[in-house]
Amino acid sequence: MLAATYRRYGPPDVLKIEEVARPTLKADEVLVRVCASSVTSGDVRMRAFTGAGIFWLPMRLLFGVLRPRSPVAGMEFAGTIAEVGRSVTAFRVGDAVFGMRIGGANAELLAARESVAIAAKPDGLTFEQAAVVPFGALSALEFLRDSVRIKPGQKILIHGASGAVGVFAVQLAKHFGAHVTSVCSAANAELVTSLGADQVIDYSKNDFTQGPIVYDAILDTVGGTSFSRAKRVLTPYGRHVFVVQTLTQLLQALWTSMRRGKRVIVGFSGGESKDDLLLIKGLIETGRIRPVIDRTYKLREIVDAHRFVDTGRKRGGVAVSISDAP
Ligand SMILES: NC(=O)c1ccc[n+]([C@@H]2O[C@H](COP(=O)([O-])OP(=O)(O)OC[C@H]3O[C@@H](n4cnc5c(N)ncnc54)[C@H](OP(=O)(O)O)[C@@H]3O)[C@@H](O)[C@H]2O)c1
Repeated sequence: MLAATYRRYGPPDVLKIEEVARPTLKADEVLVRVCASSVTSGDVRMRAFTGAGIFWLPMRLLFGVLRPRSPVAGMEFAGTIAEVGRSVTAFRVGDAVFGMRIGGANAELLAARESVAIAAKPDGLTFEQAAVVPFGALSALEFLRDSVRIKPGQKILIHGASGAVGVFAVQLAKHFGAHVTSVCSAANAELVTSLGADQVIDYSKNDFTQGPIVYDAILDTVGGTSFSRAKRVLTPYGRHVFVVQTLTQLLQALWTSMRRGKRVIVGFSGGESKDDLLLIKGLIETGRIRPVIDRTYKLREIVDAHRFVDTGRKRGGVAVSISDAP
């Protein structure tokens, strides 16, 4: 089968399209014929191995010390079931599915355990649209529910509202009944308003830490905010959640966890929950949330897709078309 692979860490041109062996199927796995995949900010980080900061060593131990342990790139997928392992009960050959697993998705075939984040493709979405949902939506859901502990009526500020995590964070925060202020560039103001943001702050013109509004939580999805500046606009028990962390924020998280008052929270997302993916599917099918695709590339254009995601300027997700639905 054809796959986008990287056999060393580095710039986008470490990626190659090559023939690799088909995945072998275990009893509890399904084989997915991938129609569409994506390139996420997580994929480019894993390829370049930049920005891991203090997590560099643990991440390298996890993904391969000298070179990537698993060479096939990609984590989001949408396609049809081509084969099922002998103990699989939830899926049948021909089912249209979408899901996420770390590595292996930028390929014509992918094996995934039926128990992880894989579910029937939401009705009404193309394979490309479905392929840009899991990373951003599962992360945003975990950050809002588990780190922010969002409640109806709260005032939430989402910094980086136009990225893959941000576009779902805005929509999910609205779904949970919050009042949402989005921070993005002027070019993306219309997009985030269409997703439901109550208020938009253009970061090139206004500094939200100097504004009049006080927030129950700040969710920083792209980095660049600081607790020492932002605590001025947090309620007495407000939470400042960072999903891209520095050592300072880890220490602040530790320090503020030992005291009453405003908290720094370091957000991590596993993105593996089938129940969460089913929740997201339901919200899409009832029109509460929708995917945003910036661009779609072909698999053979994977280097260009990575170059674009590397700019840090994409709106929502970047899809990769792999094969037509059978
Ligand atoms: N901790 C975890 O478990 C976890 C899970 C998922 C993701 N993440 C991390 O979360 C980060 C965001 O992921 P993503 O996929 O959403 O990124 P992304 O899609 O690449 O974000 C791109 C967006 O960020 C906006 N942006 C860039 N600089 C900005 C700034 N200074 N202020 C406001 N917006 C800005 C850009 O809009 P403009 O062009 O308008 O500026 C663009 O729309 C990544 O670093 C990723 O690795 C962490």
